[in-house]
Amino acid sequence: MGRCEKAAKEIRIAAKSQHVVCRFLDLASLDSVTNFAKMINQELPHIDVLINNAGIMKPRPPKATPLTEDGFERQLETNYLGHFLLTNLLMDNLTNGEQPGRIINVTSAAYERGSIDLEDVEKSSLEGEEKLTELYYQSKLANVLFTDALSRKEELKNRITCNCLNPGVVHTNIDRYSSIPLYALSVYLYKPFQWFIMKTPLQGAQTSLYLSTEPTLSKTTGRYFDDCEFVSKTSEICDCELADKLWEASKMWTRLDERHTSVSHDLREGKS
Ligand SMILES: NC(=O)c1ccc[n+]([C@@H]2O[C@H](COP(=O)([O-])OP(=O)(O)OC[C@H]3O[C@@H](n4cnc5c(N)ncnc54)[C@H](OP(=O)(O)O)[C@@H]3O)[C@@H](O)[C@H]2O)c1
Repeated sequence: MGRCEKAAKEIRIAAKSQHVVCRFLDLASLDSVTNFAKMINQELPHIDVLINNAGIMKPRPPKATPLTEDGFERQLETNYLGHFLLTNLLMDNLTNGEQPGRIINVTSAAYERGSIDLEDVEKSSLEGEEKLTELYYQSKLANVLFTDALSRKEELKNRITCNCLNPGVVHTNIDRYSSIPLYALSVYLYKPFQWFIMKTPLQGAQTSLYLSTEPTLSKTTGRYFDDCEFVSKTSEICDCELADKLWEASKMWTRLDERHTSVSHDLREGKS
């Protein structure tokens, strides 16, 4: 939260606005996501844009356990399942404006190498580095499948847009939970060439900002973007049937209906 406050202060100064606040959220905890959604519902009746950006890569003990407190594989819950729940719990606030609420999922080009077996999302037959890598790819594929399934929901047509993007190779802290910081090592080795081969975080954020603010994209949905450019429809790059199955499994895993009722109940109680 200290780093968040520091960033918020910088944004307040740069934007000359006081309307920048920090709130705690742990996407690796379904209860934390639910509590966060309750708080946001009370504080923020309308949401224009939701950017599902948070992510981790190859977390290892002692920095992180393989499973979360909910018992899910950590990369799947942090990178995808937490966002699935959050987006759905904030849906009323995203759909109550004049313009469709924009939902933006940050994936990676690595989604192409991902595979999902809904009966074995822990990838139990794999081990070590290979397992962690495949689990990261899986979580990034889940971001694309989520984008596709959500953008095809009939009841949300013209009420939300949902797109995903690859930020590119960006010099960030993505591997901070890995005890073997291969990514950091490669960054170190490539340091003299870094500015040629890696984006700065500011550059890496541009496609998210473009999808958030570009007026001509107010109705664009179900698309995959890279470098602020449309690459393809999600329906053309993923298995729509698998996307629907993942949606149903995620509803069950997160106990979405129960949590949605609890969030709505708390909102009514708060208002009365
Ligand atoms: N860097 C790349 O080259 C690259 C390439 C392709 C895709 N991506 C994707 O880009 C996105 C952003 O990653 P990044 O590279 O900017 O890495 P980063 O610097 O490590 O940022 C990741 C963010 O996720 C947050 N986060 C991690 N675990 C969380 C949790 N349990 N609950 C809430 N927030 C959590 C972190 O918050 P704290 O700071 O509070 O921990 C941090 O703000 C990720 O989805 C990643 O998969 C990155």
